[in-house]
Amino acid sequence: MKEIPRNHPSPDDEEQQTGEFPLNEYRLRLDGREWSILHVGSVLSRDDENRFLGELKGRLPYGVALWPSAIALAHDLVSRAGELRGRRVLELGTGTGLPGIVAASLGARVVQTDRDELAMSSCKRNCERNGVGTIEHRLADWTSWDDAGQYDWIIGSDILYGVELQPHLRRIFESNLAAGGRVLLSDPFRAVSLGLLEAMEEDGWSVSLSKWSVGDEAAPRPVAVFELAAPRNGPVAQPRLPQSGHVAPLS
Ligand SMILES: C[S@@+](CC[C@H](N)C(=O)[O-])C[C@H]1O[C@@H](n2cnc3c(N)ncnc32)[C@H](O)[C@@H]1O
Repeated sequence: MKEIPRNHPSPDDEEQQTGEFPLNEYRLRLDGREWSILHVGSVLSRDDENRFLGELKGRLPYGVALWPSAIALAHDLVSRAGELRGRRVLELGTGTGLPGIVAASLGARVVQTDRDELAMSSCKRNCERNGVGTIEHRLADWTSWDDAGQYDWIIGSDILYGVELQPHLRRIFESNLAAGGRVLLSDPFRAVSLGLLEAMEEDGWSVSLSKWSVGDEAAPRPVAVFELAAPRNGPVAQPRLPQSGHVAPLS
């Protein structure tokens, strides 16, 4: 697989900035389809992440960068195309919006949410860019959640990192997941995230994972896509067999 520079400048002159930061483009090509996502930079390796969380802390919201978990979740969703058509999907912490945009392109009825206005506007711009006009967008905070809707899939990429936010997320999973539904969460194996998933498993949730690696082949970042089923669904359906693969981040 060829190695490609991480951040391609956006080809569109008129939309090259988010505030003081130039935009880059990520192109995902899978199964004969292509998606294009504008973002302020990809945070693929641990070094990228340390830089983003250090130098840029407070200057940029997390949601305007592209995180490896979004890339892994997008691949996982494409591999489930048949399970998404016509289904209700709630995306939490959507950021630049790649997973929800992919799900909508595959025929799902998607609601994308984030609490951050800049992230939400970059998500909407990416929806337009990909010709996806069916998605509903809502500014919504997990800590003051008032959506009573039921969803067949609740999805989120790299949203489990805040231990103080986890009880709020768990309440959303418990109250907004339709009977027989699934939660699909991608995460770069953060210890704090694994803690939540282990606690949920102890409480009767079924948890299975697919493992992806994202980034340059020389220094790939392992990312898990966890599939969760609630205990209240009665006998827990067998999780599908684990998938795995390496994906080049920028192509
Ligand atoms: C690490 S970023 C991941 C963004 C995107 N999902 C991705 O993988 O590229 C976390 C996202 O969660 C959102 N977020 C954090 N806390 C939130 C909260 N309390 N309510 C809603 N969204 C929140 C952030 O605004 C951000 O977009």
